[in-house]
Amino acid sequence: MTQVPRGRFITVEGQDGAGKTTNLSVIRDALERSGIPIVQSREPGGTPWGEALRELILNYRDTDIVPTAELLTIFAARAQHIHQVIAPALSAGKWVLCDRFTDATYAYQGGGRGISLDAIALLEHMVQGQLQPDLTLLFDVDIDTGNARAQQRSTADRFESEQASFKQAVRTRYLTIAKQNPQRVKVIDASQPLEQVVREVRSQVNDFIRKVVGE
Ligand code: TMP
Repeated sequence: MTQVPRGRFITVEGQDGAGKTTNLSVIRDALERSGIPIVQSREPGGTPWGEALRELILNYRDTDIVPTAELLTIFAARAQHIHQVIAPALSAGKWVLCDRFTDATYAYQGGGRGISLDAIALLEHMVQGQLQPDLTLLFDVDIDTGNARAQQRSTADRFESEQASFKQAVRTRYLTIAKQNPQRVKVIDASQPLEQVVREVRSQVNDFIRKVVGE
């Protein structure tokens, strides 16, 4: 019988300044060393249209964007991303490595903006059907450290400019998601020295690869 290829879907999450970007290349490297064909992408964005929406979502400041409009725009970009990039890659047997996905919506639009879980779950179901990440690495860091790191980078976007209470709510919601999904979501303490963080990331990814190969 012909084996139908099925890729795996890995997402990376965390508050701004938690060190996701540095570690995406560590994850990518670990996958490539194992000979796994990967497609790397990000949200919001991941397609030309989605990247145009990303710019509006992150940086449009001419009006106060109502949280529901923000939520719908994020899911609009996600629908296109799944259709154009994620689903085709997974069904071709490739692994998808994505910088943020729907956990970020629960954390930022749910925790941060106060949108109900039910509203997010409704759109999640409509846009994703059964699609869920197979592995999520959540980079967790306290708010002060995250702010200090994010400030070193560039001008702050609409989320980075939010108050400490918003950022705390994002972090709390992420940690709740991790507690509720311990099989899928692995929390990495990103306040540790970088070499230790990198070691943990490699070890989580390699454990996951071994598990998949053993299935
Ligand atoms: P980043 O990719 O540089 O981390 O920036 C993306 C920003 O978008 C980040 O501040 C979190 C935010 N975001 C949401 O608010 N909801 C979402 O669903 C996603 C994917 C990102």
